[in-house]
This record gives sequence, C-alpha cells and structure tokens, in this order.
Amino acid sequence: MNIVLRTVAGKRCTTGAVDNHSELIKEWFHYLGRFVVGDAFPFLGWLDLGGHQKTMKELALELDSMVTKWLDEHRKKRAHGDTTTETDFMDVMISVTEANGLVGDYDTDTIIKATCMTLVAGGADTTSVMLTWALSLLLNNRDPLRKAQEELDTHVGKDRQVNESDLINLVYLEAVVKEALRLYPAAFLGSPRAFSEDCTIAGYHVPKGTWLFINMWKLHRDPNIWSDPCEFRPERFLNPNHKEVDVKGTDFELIPFGAGRKSCPGTRIALQMLHIVLATLLQNFEMSTPNGAPVDMTASVGLTNDKATLPGYQEKEKEKEKKEEEEEEQKQKKKQQKEQKEKEKEKEKQKQQQKQQQKQQEQELEKEKEKEKEQQKEKEK
Ligand code: HEM
Repeated sequence: MNIVLRTVAGKRCTTGAVDNHSELIKEWFHYLGRFVVGDAFPFLGWLDLGGHQKTMKELALELDSMVTKWLDEHRKKRAHGDTTTETDFMDVMISVTEANGLVGDYDTDTIIKATCMTLVAGGADTTSVMLTWALSLLLNNRDPLRKAQEELDTHVGKDRQVNESDLINLVYLEAVVKEALRLYPAAFLGSPRAFSEDCTIAGYHVPKGTWLFINMWKLHRDPNIWSDPCEFRPERFLNPNHKEVDVKGTDFELIPFGAGRKSCPGTRIALQMLHIVLATLLQNFEMSTPNGAPVDMTASVGLTNDKATLPGYQEKEKEKEKKEEEEEEQKQKKKQQKEQKEKEKEKEKQKQQQKQQQKQQEQELEKEKEKEKEQQKEKEK
C-alpha cells in the first residue's frame, strides 16, 4: 500500500497514526466486496438491511474528504510555484488536465480524484494479500519452500542481496508466484461488469444492466485443466503442459489479473513487487510456524480475499460485527420510540376529537333546551 500511495499521491501508509489512510482504505475495501440485499433484490434496497449502505455512504464521504485534501495540497504546492518536478500520479493528472482540459460529463477534480482512487483501490492491498498467501502456501508445503531457497542459493548466493536483475534466473520462484496466483487470486471476482445491451449466452437470455462477475477461483481450480487442482504444485508451471501459460490475460485458464480492456493496469508492477519481495524474504529468513503447525488457509469475505486468520483480523471483524449490531439495536430502538410517539399522538388526537364531539353534543343539547324554553314561553303567552 505504501508504494501505491506514494506513487499515486505522494503519501505514506500510516497505520495507527492520526491520519490513517490505510485503515480507511481497508475498510472501504471490505465494504466494496460486501453483498448487500439491494444488489440482488433492488426493490428491497430502500430497507438497507444491516445498515451497510449507510456505513458505505459515510465511508465514501470520509474517503472523498481525504482525497480532496490531497488534491488541495497538490494544487497549493503548484500555486507556490513548485512545478519543476512532477512527483506523483496526481501531479501528472493535474498537469495533463491543465494542458489539455477534459471533455466529459464530470468536472476535472472529480475525474482526478476518481482515477487516483481507482488506482489506490486496485493496488492498495492486492499485492500484500498475494504475498501473504504465497508465504502461507510455502509454509504449508516445505518441499517447494526448500526448492525456492536452493534456487536462490544457486543463482544469488549469500554474499549479496537478490536484486531485480536476478529474477530472470529464478524460474522456480516464478512458478511459485504463478501457483499462488492460481490458487488464491487476490481479486478473484475481478471488476464487476454490466451488460450494455440484451443478449443471449448459451441459450440464456441476459437482460441489459445485468452484473457480471467472473469467478476466477473456480476457473483456476477446474479439474479439466489442472491435475490435482487444489494442490500447491509449482512444478506444474515447469512441465510442458503449462510451461507457456502466462498470467497476463492471454491464457484464459489463468487470469489472476483479469483479461481484456479492463484487465489490471498494475500487472507489471505487481509481478515485479511479488517476485522481488518474496525472493528477498526467502533469501534472508528461515521460515517456520509455531510448533510446525499448518497455517490456517481460511479466506475472508471481501473484494480481495484476505486471509481470515491474520493477527488481529478476527478481533477486528468481531468489533465490526458488534458495532453493526449496536447500530442496528439503536435503529430499532429509535424506530420503536418513533412508533410509540406516533401512537401517543394518535391517542391524543382521538381524545381531542372525543372532547370536540362531547362539546358539540353539549352545545346541541343546550340549543335544544333553549328552544324548548322559548317554545314554552310562546305557549304561556
Ligand atoms: C498481485 C497483485 C494484483 C492482482 C492479483 C490484481 C488483480 C486485478 C484484477 C483481477 C482486476 C480486475 C480485472 C478484470 O476484471 O478484468 C484488477 C483491476 C485493477 N487493478 Fe489490479 N491487481 C493487482 C495489483 C494492482 C496494482 C499494484 C495496481 C496499481 C498500481 C492495480 C490497479 C488496478 C486497477 C486500477 C484496476 C481497475 C481497472 C479497471 O477497472 O479498468 N492492481 N486488478
């Protein structure tokens, strides 16, 4: 996340600090991948069951104010004459929009903020999630771990640090990364797409507007393509069968970065980071788990399939659930109080009406009496 934030907006990742970008972005990501009832049943959307939409809207406002602040800082810096160096992506976007203008339905600021946030969203935790899975897989599969370290010993040795020029020789490490991307693709549902017109696929009518998610998890574990599909076997990418299979979107049996025009624009930097960080860790550390216990491979719910058993993850999830339950309770209480108040109002109204009716009846009785009296007087006359 640090690399992405620095590249996009010149910001550092500051977990635990006051200006907490990473926590906010993580929470945003959690909700981006969350299923809300209104997605499947739009007519129930207004109910906002569980209150997720409300939380998402609040979060979106917080994120927008964070990016607006970044943009203001960038513009101020430029206003003070500091335009000599374009330090990050936001600076480049400001320059491009100032030079060429933008034609479209949105204003310049919205376009800059949305483009930057798309990059942050795409790159924030995907690479770190992938590294976590790759390391966990290696810890649960000691033979591939040993082979990857032996390869590093052979081609790099222990006297210097591995660097990017070594990567071309680390073919086993490349196979490890591919196998991790096959088994645990970080964004396994890709970006959602929507049908722009009605169409028919394999005899099924798909109406315009339908959302499409591609389930890479299933695709990457298809037993018709992969032998022992759920096993971690990097060697499969060294065998003639799958040696040529690439991850960049041209071989549809393995598309961890998606495919087509909407495929991941961060593929190159992500692969570079995955290889160099993994190689550095394997070269410098002996990896093991407490008492040799296997790593729990349960995945979490969300747009990125984070490990559900990262330190503190479950506590945070429980806290979130508790907060959601409390919010729901508050909501119900408020609803009940409102209903109670309305009932009391209704009762008061009915009382008033009864009083009014009683008064009218009394007045009518009074009139009747008056009338009778007058009639009596008339008769006496
Ligand atoms: C291992 C790391 C990564 C994985 C597995 C990954 C995977 C993906 C996938 C599957 C998609 C959707 C593609 C589709 O639906 O066809 C995507 C989109 C995207 N990714 Fe990545 N990504 C990674 C790293 C990065 C990085 C480092 C960046 C930015 C520097 C990035 C930026 C984006 C953006 C902006 C999109 C949205 C593209 C669009 O909607 O047009 N990704 N990524």
